[in-house]
Parts: sequence; C-alpha cells; structure tokens
Amino acid sequence: MGDFLTIQDIEKAAQQVQKRSKLKPQVGLILGSGLGSLAESVENPDYIPYAEVPGWPVSGVQGHVGRLVLGELESQPVVVMQGRSHYYEGYDMPRLGLPVRVMRHLGIEILIVTNAAGAVNPDFEPGDLMLLVDHLNLLGMAGQNPLRGPNLDSLGPRFPDMSQVYDRKLQSTARLAAEEEKINLREGVYCCLAGPSFETPADLRFLRNVGVDAVGMSTVPEAIVARHGGIRVLGISGISNKANLDGTTETSHEEVLEAGRVLVPKLTKLIRGVLRKLS
Ligand code: HPA
Repeated sequence: MGDFLTIQDIEKAAQQVQKRSKLKPQVGLILGSGLGSLAESVENPDYIPYAEVPGWPVSGVQGHVGRLVLGELESQPVVVMQGRSHYYEGYDMPRLGLPVRVMRHLGIEILIVTNAAGAVNPDFEPGDLMLLVDHLNLLGMAGQNPLRGPNLDSLGPRFPDMSQVYDRKLQSTARLAAEEEKINLREGVYCCLAGPSFETPADLRFLRNVGVDAVGMSTVPEAIVARHGGIRVLGISGISNKANLDGTTETSHEEVLEAGRVLVPKLTKLIRGVLRKLS
C-alpha cells in the first residue's frame, strides 16, 4: 500500500493555513528551482513555512525556500508556493498532490505552475521561457500517478480526462501577455522524469524522438491533481540548460540555479501580465 491522501488530511492542512491567513486566494502559483524570488513581489504577504502545515511534503533542495506566501499580485489574491517537493526526495506521488489539494480547498480556480527544465528541443536556449501545451506522463505510464489509490469522489472523477491539461484560454492569455511584454515565448511538450540523476544523451534522444521539448522533475503530478479537481492550469518552463543530445556538455544544479537569475525577471513580467488579464 502507498501513502494515500484522505479528505481529513487535506482539511487538516488547509485549516492550519486558514488559521495563519485570512486571504481567499483565486490563483495558485508554484515556483520551481531558482524561480522562488518571484514570491518577493507579493503584497501584504502572510508567510507559512511548509514545516508548520501538517502532512506537507517539505523540500530540502537548494533553491527551494519552502513556504507558502499568501497575498496580492496585480490585485489578484494569490497563494504562492515558494519552492516545491519532488518525487526524488522520497515522497510518494499522492503526497506530492497535497499542496494542490490544499490550494483548491482554499478556493483557487487557476493554477500557474512553473519549473526549471532542460531543453530537449535543440532550438531552445538557456534563459528561454516555454509555454506548456501538453505533457508526456512517462512516470504515470509506469504506474506512478498521483491519483493512484482510493479516489476522492467529492473532489473529482476516478478517470479524469487529460485531453487539455494546460487550459487553452490561459495559453492564449499567456501568448498575449508575452507579446505585450516583448518576451519570446517558446511552446512545447514537457516531460517529467523521476530524477535526481540528469538524463543521459540516450535518454534525451529517446525523449526527442517521442516529441518532448523540455524535461524536468516536477509539474506533471501537480497538473494532474489540479485537473482532477477541476482547476484550470497554466504551465511555464524556464529553460535552464541546453539539450545535450550528443553528450558534449555536462549539466549541474548550479547551472539550473544560475539560469533562474536570468529567468526570474522575465517570468515575473509574464506572470504579472497574465494576472492583469485575469482581473
Ligand atoms: N533535466 C531534468 N531536470 C532539469 C534539467 C534537466 O536537464 N534542468 C533543470 N531541471
């Protein structure tokens, strides 16, 4: 048996958050590796460290602050996850879904999920932003789906549709915001692998052959849980390193964090632009 979530787990965690913040968020934001400083733009913030929320998967990874920030961004009430946890840290998939379940309980209708990703598409460069138009759920195909276990019928269906994980209207909004902010927004398919080891050149050539544009170690479980709960999802990757399809370059976490410094200002502009269009 696995570590499956119950409604009581979700309510207990949500109540703890509600004790610490009166805010009723409309939009949830998950900030990936090296991208957390966007949370510093939140106005009138309430801070809640993950460790203080019962059952919350806590991340020890460098580049992930590990707290919830509730406040306003572009006049929208938002709940921001400054850092996230990953499968490679040892959590079961359903546990990784708790944060999204809690954010839904708090009232979000839209989730903006970001990540740092490696380029698989050879046209992509470090520092590029990529709009997720779809994902390849390789881990899910292999049995690691966050919805595995008893279905929480009051939250969503046993067999949720995934024909449009990344909401088409929100994609259009992001394209429009990128145009206005003069950001070259790439588009593509994201694939989540378990990590923590980076891909071999053979892994990358395989992913390229099956239509993947960017690869990372997150986002897909969160997006699935969000869709299960009827939340509209916008996904954005920050490309932090180049596709190493021929094995001539190395990949490091330092490189990923360094790219974050270039990506954060762009990502901040894009997300602010999207939020303005939502109000
Ligand atoms: N592979 C997997 N995950 C990543 C990468 C990568 O190259 N870069 C940032 N996250």
